[in-house]
Amino acid sequence: MKANNAEGSMLLFSTSLLLVISGLGIHSLPYDYSATTECVAETPRAQYGGGIIINPGFDHSIDGWTVFGNGAIEGRISNAGNRFIVAHNRTQPSDSFSQKVQLMKGMLYTFSAWFQLSEGSDTVSVIFKTNATELIRGGHAIAKHGCWTLLKGGIVANYSSRAEILFETKNSKVEIWADSVSLQPFTKEQWRSHQDESIERVRKSKVSFQITHTNETALEGARVSIKQNKCDFPFGCGMNFHILTSRKYQKWFASRFKFTTFTNAMKWYSTEEIQGQENYNIADAMMNFTKENGISVRGHNIFWDNEKMQPKWVKSLSPDELRQAAEKRINSVVSRYEGELIAWDVVNENLHFNFFEDNLGENTSAEYFSKTYQLDPKPLLFMNEYNTIEYSGDRAASPANYIAKMAQIRSFPGNEGISAAIGLQGHFTAGQPNLAYMRAALDAFGTTALPIWLTEVSVDSGPNQAEHLEEVLREGYSHPSVEGIIMFAGPAIAGFKDMALVDENFCNTPAGDVVDKLISEWQTEPQKAIADSTGIVHFSLHHGDYDVTVTHPLGHSSKTLNLSVRKDSTQQTIHVKMHS
Ligand SMILES: *[C@@H]1O[C@H](CO)[C@@H](O)[C@H](O)[C@H]1NC(C)=O
Ligand SMILES: *[C@@H]1O[C@H](CO)[C@@H](O)[C@H](O)[C@H]1NC(C)=O
Ligand SMILES: *[C@@H]1O[C@H](CO)[C@@H](O)[C@H](O)[C@H]1NC(C)=O
Ligand SMILES: *[C@@H]1O[C@H](CO)[C@@H](O)[C@H](O)[C@H]1NC(C)=O
Ligand SMILES: *[C@@H]1O[C@H](CO)[C@@H](O)[C@H](O)[C@H]1NC(C)=O
Ligand SMILES: *[C@@H]1O[C@H](CO)[C@@H](O)[C@H](O)[C@H]1NC(C)=O
Ligand SMILES: *[C@@H]1O[C@H](CO)[C@@H](O)[C@H](O)[C@H]1NC(C)=O
Repeated sequence: MKANNAEGSMLLFSTSLLLVISGLGIHSLPYDYSATTECVAETPRAQYGGGIIINPGFDHSIDGWTVFGNGAIEGRISNAGNRFIVAHNRTQPSDSFSQKVQLMKGMLYTFSAWFQLSEGSDTVSVIFKTNATELIRGGHAIAKHGCWTLLKGGIVANYSSRAEILFETKNSKVEIWADSVSLQPFTKEQWRSHQDESIERVRKSKVSFQITHTNETALEGARVSIKQNKCDFPFGCGMNFHILTSRKYQKWFASRFKFTTFTNAMKWYSTEEIQGQENYNIADAMMNFTKENGISVRGHNIFWDNEKMQPKWVKSLSPDELRQAAEKRINSVVSRYEGELIAWDVVNENLHFNFFEDNLGENTSAEYFSKTYQLDPKPLLFMNEYNTIEYSGDRAASPANYIAKMAQIRSFPGNEGISAAIGLQGHFTAGQPNLAYMRAALDAFGTTALPIWLTEVSVDSGPNQAEHLEEVLREGYSHPSVEGIIMFAGPAIAGFKDMALVDENFCNTPAGDVVDKLISEWQTEPQKAIADSTGIVHFSLHHGDYDVTVTHPLGHSSKTLNLSVRKDSTQQTIHVKMHS
């Protein structure tokens, strides 16, 4: 709906009306959007001019580059005249070309490069070798023969050191070709300023009011006050069964969050602990609590692809019996909550595990997406994976593999219409989170144009837990492609020991302080502004719903409007005419 320059006549005759601010797209974001998962015939120039890489585009053949391991390297020129580097005669996965760089403690390094293989297709990884033994993988891409694929990644430097950048493919028979290599350092302050700038552009919109007399002359001194009564961005928290018996937990939760995921209550092992005896009492009661409090629920999960996470009795089933039991499970849980959930994690962790695929066939995840959609077309249907944004060393769960699996699921016959979505758990270890890798991964997912949620954010306990949690949450919230964030955390009394947000007395932990600070920062505080001689006032507002009151300078009259500020708004002016 579009209702800019709302007509004064409407305003004259109603004291309250609904306005929705929306508009055209957002332009020139502070991120690099040349990111693509398609492979291309010719490479673009290196991002950031190559950053600290010498000879990033191989304009000077292979100057600055050396052989790593065995094999040989050489410069080549494409038919179109583009120069690139080739590692050939390789015998080990890491036989490649390399360049030494100086890493500075505390800096974040954004990496990108384009790759092609002499034949077939394989995962290429970038490796930062900081000393004789420490090899840090900083990103992965599935490179092919015949076209160039972008690899985006990065590292954070925990200490200053020389590092050698090199590359790896499991298949050591193929030649690795590379072009447009870039490594750009950023300070933490620069990184934070990207986030702040992005938040301003993607989570907020500028709204102006023009206040006039009924004859359209500017009304200087009119007072406009606004109060946000709903936030659009879903920033939620997991919950567990303890909420049913703790009034304090209920109050704590309902006063903060409008979005949740039940950590375990909907899982198969919870609802059918004994075969044939379904028990939804806890999940149902939790659903009742969320309904009473206007909290939206992500369903989690229909199946979990980890063999160890099945109901105990499942182990002894034959494949046929498993197929029947699984069929019953999906029908039961999806039908039960039909129309009530905003999302389903359909097959949890199907990049790391393949219990159902191994037993029931390679297309099982795709079939379950299809089945879920038939039973309940409303929820977004998620894959849900760990280590995809949080650990650059995990090739199995890399964005490239994730996107390939999602493409397979979506192309499965019958799945054309499903509302597929990207679920990224976000369980971080206690150390410095690799935000450079996290942003690169989110950029890669952004090219799919699918909804992206961080679904289970947590940071292991450690001396800087709260600081690292804040960094991760800001990175997620500021990324233009992220549409929601759920944390897996809560009160200590509910067993959230590793990342408790409140202690046994319901006093905030440092992590809880971070969460409360961000909840308040990510909404607009009540504001007042006085119209100048042009009758105009400006606001920059977080997306959401607002109550607006415009008061005549002499108190002659006042008007109340409901204002919805939506994503993708550009500057809008709302004209309000006031009686004298
Ligand atoms: C405006 O919002 C208030 C709640 O904040 C609601 O009571 C009222 O009905 C709304 N008015 C319109 C016109 O939507
Ligand atoms: C390939 O490697 C082998 C073993 O290191 C070496 O003998 C041979 O000369 C190399 N060939 C080329 C073309 O570099
Ligand atoms: C390499 O660096 C890691 C991380 O700082 C350190 O634990 C390890 O001892 C270092 N190894 C050598 C051989 O210097
Ligand atoms: C418009 O109306 C206001 C208030 O009645 C009055 O002060 C002002 O002079 C009018 N302006 C014009 C151009 O008529
Ligand atoms: C949930 O609420 C419904 C409607 O009020 C009620 O019938 C049902 O018993 C409740 N279920 C649980 C498990 O509390
Ligand atoms: C899996 O699905 C693909 C189509 O997406 C089909 O080509 C393939 O044969 C299926 N595999 C099995 C085992 O049914
Ligand atoms: C060092 O940096 C990497 C990311 O590059 C991170 O995964 C790791 O946790 C860090 N180590 C410490 C001790 O902070």
